[in-house]
Amino acid sequence: MKCVDDFRLRFGKAELVPIIIGGMGVDISTAELALEAARLGGIGHISDAMVPTVSDRRFSTHFVKEKLKLYKYNVANADKSDVLFDLGRLAEATQNHVGRTMEAKRGTGMIFVNCMEKLTMNAPRETLRVRLTAALDAGVDGITLSAGLHLGSFALIEDHPRFRDAKLGIIVSSLRALQIFLRKIAKLKRLPDFVIVEGPLAGGHLGFGMDWAHFDLATIMAEIQEYLKVEKLNIPLIAAGGIFTGSDAVSFLDSGAAAVQVATRFTVAQECGLPAAVQQEYFRASEADIEVNTISPTGYPMRMLKNSPAIGSGIRPNCEAFGYLLDGSGNCAYITAYNRELATHPKTKHGLPKISVKDKTCLCTHMRNFDCWTCGHYTYRLKDTTRRLADGSYQVLSAEHVFHDYQFSTEQRIALPD
Ligand SMILES: Cc1cc2nc3c(=O)[nH]c(=O)nc-3n(C[C@H](O)[C@H](O)[C@H](O)COP(=O)(O)O)c2cc1C
Repeated sequence: MKCVDDFRLRFGKAELVPIIIGGMGVDISTAELALEAARLGGIGHISDAMVPTVSDRRFSTHFVKEKLKLYKYNVANADKSDVLFDLGRLAEATQNHVGRTMEAKRGTGMIFVNCMEKLTMNAPRETLRVRLTAALDAGVDGITLSAGLHLGSFALIEDHPRFRDAKLGIIVSSLRALQIFLRKIAKLKRLPDFVIVEGPLAGGHLGFGMDWAHFDLATIMAEIQEYLKVEKLNIPLIAAGGIFTGSDAVSFLDSGAAAVQVATRFTVAQECGLPAAVQQEYFRASEADIEVNTISPTGYPMRMLKNSPAIGSGIRPNCEAFGYLLDGSGNCAYITAYNRELATHPKTKHGLPKISVKDKTCLCTHMRNFDCWTCGHYTYRLKDTTRRLADGSYQVLSAEHVFHDYQFSTEQRIALPD
């Protein structure tokens, strides 16, 4: 009976355990989690989502406070087009996060940064260029471009000295998305080093519409494999989304995947950034407690626990402090939804009325506060991966335990912790 350890992911001369822990913003896939994956011979991701905010929390910098101070005059203004990121500070924050993670790296594995391109930050091209450049400067092993796939992003860094040596990859959810990307980068003569194919059961934002349930990962993988074969393109394909056991992983590796990317099972690891109380919510969830909704202002459907505090919250947009989702003109779908609700609720003598915004959420604030409980489809199975303690709570696992369970288990077995 085969297990994941019978396979290896080859990147040039490097041989890795074919397990990649996916990027989970905002600091859910922490440096500690990514470092464990690298120590164990696989690949771990940190995320550069809201990186100034993450740097403040981890390294006692004051990027958010400084930005808020600069734009405080604009807080009550619906027009956020003035609110820009200082590119030098953005580079500094990225180098803090990525650089310190790389310094701490041990073992034979790799650390990649997940770069969510939908974080348009009121200046999509400039901020993306800085984020990518600073991550390469800080010595990251690779970059995974996700949500929003900016077709010009490879070109933004083509002059960087590490453009051809760092591992650069993309996440797609369809053959069409891959074909469009490959066409766009053809003139750079530099193919992606890997392509992650993310199916509809993943956590975070989905690359599908609300008809996500009509798609399945194995079929999309097969289509893309066939296309690459016909085109004679040798790009490692990595399967992601709903791979819950070592045996699930083996079935993809056996069918030609170079590796698997997994995330949900690591949301209940000690090294994961989710607060302990939120991890218990993930453990307790039943299938009926999970939904795919459209409240993310990015326009992508997102999977989350129905009891997430972010759902229905009506907080004032925090763009002067955060503002990561502002498009190139300073708009965000949450600001529009919030102002619409505000207009229909009269001011009270105490100031702004308490409102609820049902159709969108202030993703920056709620992800920052771990109040948007995004999760994978199989989150309801997490309780079967651990033990129930005497007080009724579930035992949190070590990342090593989960990693080894993926690496060595067979016959759909899941090892419980000691
Ligand atoms: C809590 C959570 C947050 C996530 N956040 C991101 C993200 O910020 N960027 C991204 O590209 N993918 C994100 N993902 C997707 C994962 O990186 C991964 O590809 C996917 O969830 C794998 O499927 P699995 O969770 O079923 O193992 C997230 C997943 C989870 C569970």
